[in-house]
Amino acid sequence: IKTVNLETVIGVTSKLPENHLPEFAFSGKSNVGKSSLINALMNRKAYARTSSQPGKTQTINFYNINDALYYVDLPGYGYAKVALAAKEKWGKMIERYLRQSPMLKMVFLLVDIRHEPSANDKSMYDWIVYNGYHPVIIATKLDKINRSQIQKQVKLLRQGLGMDKDGILIPFSAETKQGREEIWDLIERVMAE
Ligand code: GTP
Ligand code: MG
Repeated sequence: IKTVNLETVIGVTSKLPENHLPEFAFSGKSNVGKSSLINALMNRKAYARTSSQPGKTQTINFYNINDALYYVDLPGYGYAKVALAAKEKWGKMIERYLRQSPMLKMVFLLVDIRHEPSANDKSMYDWIVYNGYHPVIIATKLDKINRSQIQKQVKLLRQGLGMDKDGILIPFSAETKQGREEIWDLIERVMAE
């Protein structure tokens, strides 16, 4: 990656940008590691702002990568301390984005590999499917579990989300960068279509 540019930031009331480059969106609950994953894919340490405090990303952020594609960092859902009204606004913003983005090529859904998917994760999964996309699941924080637990956790996630056999799930760690190449391969495959 040569150039990265945070090109557009949109809030609750902003109009969606009319992009002409393919978009790859990253969704998932607050603190699951969306911004960290985007940084890992960009090979940047702290371009997309990350934080141990959930709710860091509150806008939809479009990162222009090499003038070839966009990574789209979506705000996290399910953060308890955010007021209900704000949650609804974020939900609507994400909904609108999924429904009205002709250049959106792939939607990644990030879930924590240590836990069963939450009701919100499941809703998000269903919502992505409902909008005509095949969600690619990234099971984050892979470095936080033992190797011996991986299979079991992957099975829990696949079952909990109701994925079919050909659904893609990639275990990933922003610490070790494990899984990064697989994610890149997927993106490149779509870009080549
Ligand atoms: P919001 O912007 O609030 O929606 O959160 P986010 O999904 O963008 O999460 P973010 O990337 O900010 O990461 C949240 C916290 O988890 C940070 O403290 C990260 O350092 C940590 N984290 C993210 N990915 C990993 C990982 O793969 N392994 C470990 N050990 N920590 C991670
Ligand atoms: Mg974030």
